[in-house]
Amino acid sequence: MSITVAFWAVSLTALSAASMLCFSTGSTAAISSVPVWPYGTDPDKTSPAPNGPPDTTLKRVPGSGLQFTEAQIQNPFGPADWFPEDHPAMPAIVAVGRKPSIMACAFCHYPNGKGKPENAGVSGLPVSYFVEQMHEFRDGERKSADSRKQNTALMAAFAKAMTDQEIQQAAEYFGSIMWTPWIKVVETDMVPKTRTSAGLYIPIPGAGKEQLGERIIEIPVDPDGTEELRNPRSSFIAYVPFGSIEKGRALVTGGNKRTIACGVCHGDDLKGLGPVPGIAGRSPSYMARQLYDMQQGTRNGSWTKLMKPVVRNLSEEDVLNVVAYVSSVQPQ
Ligand code: HEC
Ligand code: HEC
Repeated sequence: MSITVAFWAVSLTALSAASMLCFSTGSTAAISSVPVWPYGTDPDKTSPAPNGPPDTTLKRVPGSGLQFTEAQIQNPFGPADWFPEDHPAMPAIVAVGRKPSIMACAFCHYPNGKGKPENAGVSGLPVSYFVEQMHEFRDGERKSADSRKQNTALMAAFAKAMTDQEIQQAAEYFGSIMWTPWIKVVETDMVPKTRTSAGLYIPIPGAGKEQLGERIIEIPVDPDGTEELRNPRSSFIAYVPFGSIEKGRALVTGGNKRTIACGVCHGDDLKGLGPVPGIAGRSPSYMARQLYDMQQGTRNGSWTKLMKPVVRNLSEEDVLNVVAYVSSVQPQ
């Protein structure tokens, strides 16, 4: 209770500071459309994994003594659990979902909650924040600003079908797992050419490189390990433009009038404060989507009000720089 009170007190102070800031700078018009890189919905790049005949051989991943077939690995109602020792016992809703309408949370977010750039890292989130998000998905207050992003719509459908008890169990399960480093952030100007599969960028073997430009591209360290094996220990690299981390640091720490210092609410170390989620070391593509969705008003939950003044005046370049920096901050 006292945490909640402190949180709202802090928030109200920040909100009034923010509204003063808008009066003094005159708010600039919000951008009218969102860039494609955070959403992975570029129609020219979309192509599913090459499809061969069904493969019934047993697969392995480094470090696990278990073996699974492709069908077991890709089963949305009980995907392979390569490393049971990495996480507590999963509640049924996380491990197998509930047929016919709720896929296992572990299918997209992995049993350890690390998730992938096209979905979300869900471990280490405060339980009350997690529950609130499920309610926002359920009530239609959390949608994607890019209507082509189908897995966000799926996520909302699961939330609608879940019972309060299932939501609570999932929130407590993932909340009990600490968020640890998962994404290596690298400044560069050239990146591997990629295709997308359900919003995940995957390097095209032998296709060479292309200019990164004003984007962030997040790719699996081991593309087959991620796409074909769903190896939850196989992590990601985020390529960000040269100089973006330092520019982002200036915005995040409040050295610029365009936004509010994130640490006021997310904690000085950005690891979260009370019910406000940690953002340090989380996927920059995921976070950029959230900032755009909030700016566009498609993510519009009751707690989102606190973020409105934060995102209102951010340009595309600002969003990129902010998430480049925040994702590079060590979460532990
Ligand atoms: C088909 C893939 C898929 C499955 C299965 C799935 N999710 Fe998600 N989830 C997503 C996507 C995609 C997002 C991010 C949406 C976005 O960025 O627009 C998301 C986001 C979330 C978030 C928001 C995280 C945050 O930081 O705010 C929570 C919480 C969540 N999912 C919980 C669950 C739970 C609980 C289950 C199991 C019942 C589940 N998800 C199953 C795809 C999935
Ligand atoms: C006044 C308090 C406040 C400030 C300042 C603030 N945030 Fe937030 N932030 C929140 C709250 C509350 C939420 C949850 C919003 C919701 O439920 O929709 C949130 C959510 C987010 C999310 C989505 C997290 C997720 O898991 O989906 C991101 C990303 C984020 N903030 C980034 C930032 C950044 C970057 C800054 C600084 C530039 C910042 N925030 C400043 C209060 C704040």
